[in-house]
Amino acid sequence: SRVVKLAVIPGDGIGPEVIAEAVKVLDAVTAGSDVSFEKTPFSLGAGRFLETGDTLTDDDLDAIKAHDAILLGAVGGTPGDPRLKDANIERGLLLKLRFELDHYVNLRPSKLYPGQPGPLAEPGDIDFVVVREGTEGPYVGNGGSIRRGTPAEVANETSVNTAYGVERVVRYAFELAERRSKKLTLVHKTNVLVNAGSLWQRLVNEVAAEHPEVAVDYLHVDAATIFLVTNPSRFDVIVTDNLFGDILTDLAGAVTGGIGLAASGNINPSGASPSMFEPVHGSAPDIAGSGKADPTAAIGSIALLLDHLGLREEADRVTRAIESDISERGSAPRTTVEIGDAIAARLQA
Ligand code: NAD
Ligand code: IPM
Ligand code: MN
Repeated sequence: SRVVKLAVIPGDGIGPEVIAEAVKVLDAVTAGSDVSFEKTPFSLGAGRFLETGDTLTDDDLDAIKAHDAILLGAVGGTPGDPRLKDANIERGLLLKLRFELDHYVNLRPSKLYPGQPGPLAEPGDIDFVVVREGTEGPYVGNGGSIRRGTPAEVANETSVNTAYGVERVVRYAFELAERRSKKLTLVHKTNVLVNAGSLWQRLVNEVAAEHPEVAVDYLHVDAATIFLVTNPSRFDVIVTDNLFGDILTDLAGAVTGGIGLAASGNINPSGASPSMFEPVHGSAPDIAGSGKADPTAAIGSIALLLDHLGLREEADRVTRAIESDISERGSAPRTTVEIGDAIAARLQA
């Protein structure tokens, strides 16, 4: 029998609420099978910072690295909370994990499930994956600021794009396109960001030559937001940089029925460090504690986790349970726990 060591970081706000349901579903799908998950909880996030002043210590990081995979809810407090202004939980915790663990593939599938209502009158068949670069781009920051707080303040952010970093994520995206509908769209802003844009375009062209069956096209990011709303079924695999991918995937979540359904994986394909699975959404302080958070995104992240670990059958069962729950969702609102229970119950059946 196989034992998987899973680090669990529930985090802040609705994070612990949706993670409780995700763990419930993980337990249900592995009940009676020969794989079991040994879960270690980590208390990290804005809550921990306010109590202890720590964001992510070296000891935390070492302990997390000793696991096979990570499940994360959401971290971060209420935007604008003055008590958190020096902490930057997002950079010091979430991005630190992605960078330190070299999660260069931020995998964000978008699918409109049958029966799922959404904002588009004629959505068509929406089923695409955004392969968002996870370790570079404007997220590297470090541009520095000078004369801070004066009228002459200069604030810079550095976008780092290395040939190494771009090529590896582009290769991953092409391999994924080969296994899907063999269509890949590069999204960038090559008309303005000419240095980074040219590097991305050249590497896509180079790797495309090795994948003659994959149809490749290109969209500027502003135009891509139009097509995500007017014709989302045109997309199969989108490859893009860290910031564009962040923005496009919140929009993709919205057009496929809501951010409460959007799952993601932060993947290090080499296996050199544990990959991390989390909903695309944040800690949603506006609904925390109300039972309104939809745990489906967190549960979908369990499916991605299982698939990453090679547990395909278990992953498919979770996906099917989500699909059938969605197809039979009525219009009456359900609580976080009711949705988790309903999906878990479909796995026992
Ligand atoms: P958010 O995703 O937390 O919330 C945006 C909107 O979506 C809110 O109205 C919220 O109620 C709603 N929403 C989010 N998840 C939902 C769910 N599961 N079910 C139903 N509705 C849901 O984004 P925000 O308000 O910009 O950020 C709040 C905090 O979370 C910030 O501190 C931010 O930095 C952090 N954040 C963390 C992560 C992460 O940990 N991966 C991701 C995004 C934002
Ligand atoms: C996400 C979040 C993070 C990001 C923030 C909280 C750092 O928005 O996971 O999409 O920008 O990547
Ligand atoms: Mn985001």
